[in-house]
Amino acid sequence: MNKNSTGSHIPVLITEVIDLLQLQKGSSALDCTLGMAGHAQAMAQQVGPTGAIYGLEVDARNLELIAQVLKENPTIHPIHTNFEDIVTVGERIHKERGRLDAILMDLGLSSMHVDEAERGFSFLREGPLDMRFDQRQELTAGEIVNTYPVDSLIHIFKVYGDEPFAQRIAYNLVEYRKHSRFKNTRELAAFVSAVVASRNAYYHKRAFTDGIWPDKERDRFELWAQRRKRHPATRVFQALRIATNRELEVLESGLRGALEILSPGGRIAVISYHSHEDRLVKNIFKEGKLDKSLHLITKKPIIPTPEEVEENPRARSAKLRVAEKNQQN
Ligand SMILES: C[S@@+](CC[C@H](N)C(=O)[O-])C[C@H]1O[C@@H](n2cnc3c(N)ncnc32)[C@H](O)[C@@H]1O
Repeated sequence: MNKNSTGSHIPVLITEVIDLLQLQKGSSALDCTLGMAGHAQAMAQQVGPTGAIYGLEVDARNLELIAQVLKENPTIHPIHTNFEDIVTVGERIHKERGRLDAILMDLGLSSMHVDEAERGFSFLREGPLDMRFDQRQELTAGEIVNTYPVDSLIHIFKVYGDEPFAQRIAYNLVEYRKHSRFKNTRELAAFVSAVVASRNAYYHKRAFTDGIWPDKERDRFELWAQRRKRHPATRVFQALRIATNRELEVLESGLRGALEILSPGGRIAVISYHSHEDRLVKNIFKEGKLDKSLHLITKKPIIPTPEEVEENPRARSAKLRVAEKNQQN
């Protein structure tokens, strides 16, 4: 296990992040996505006892899981909030520390989210259709699946999941739910697998429009899906998670806020895991380059080495971009 990993979560691109953030003894930094505090612990080592790492985490359960780590690392100051509130957090940091030298965002979910079936993030484990990072929020993935109109579902599957069968899945889903609500992750994963696997419109009509879908048929598609290299429900689950947590909207406002609160000369590093996130980061950094408020440290995103991907398959889609805030701003 990587030396900074907690439980089964291994921090991604950690050497590159630490190298490029250039933290000094006594620096102040903000980790916007504390998770299992893998990156935060490595950052804490860099800044030493006179430095400070503020760590934001929207999921109270994750903060509970790292209670011991936080006890052992008093330089890490956890804050239970969404990084959408970054400007307020920045005001606090500037008041307490006078400057903010570095910001990290390591987007998406932690391995703990996937491991705990009851959070509803995994298509391989039976759980409720929840997918909320923040349990205080009302909207769940179940609400989206069971109530959103067909056009919104197509948009979500297509835009947030790059799902090539977005229309077919959305139309059949709306037919299916006329007979029964989607109750759990397993039922949704089997349904998506069946829609993707069978191009036969007659099959779809019987199974989903007429509501005749025997359990043994569901089991057959479940088995078929599990044997595939990539589960056919992967994209739909990713899309629903992004929609449930408004991840792209939150990233855009969080990133713009981060660039406001970062001190001149300070660096920001963002690790993203899918193309829409990366494009958003790339464009916002590019705007900063054009108006001369930012200097791009990474011209192209840094990706993990094959060795890192072998040790931690979750890292395979990671892209790291780093920028420095110019002095004149
Ligand atoms: C990929 S994990 C971070 C892992 C962390 N870097 C580590 O090394 O352990 C992302 C974490 O950020 C949290 N998160 C996601 N979106 C967030 C947001 N908008 N505000 C605050 N935390 C968020 C998730 O709950 C998750 O724990």
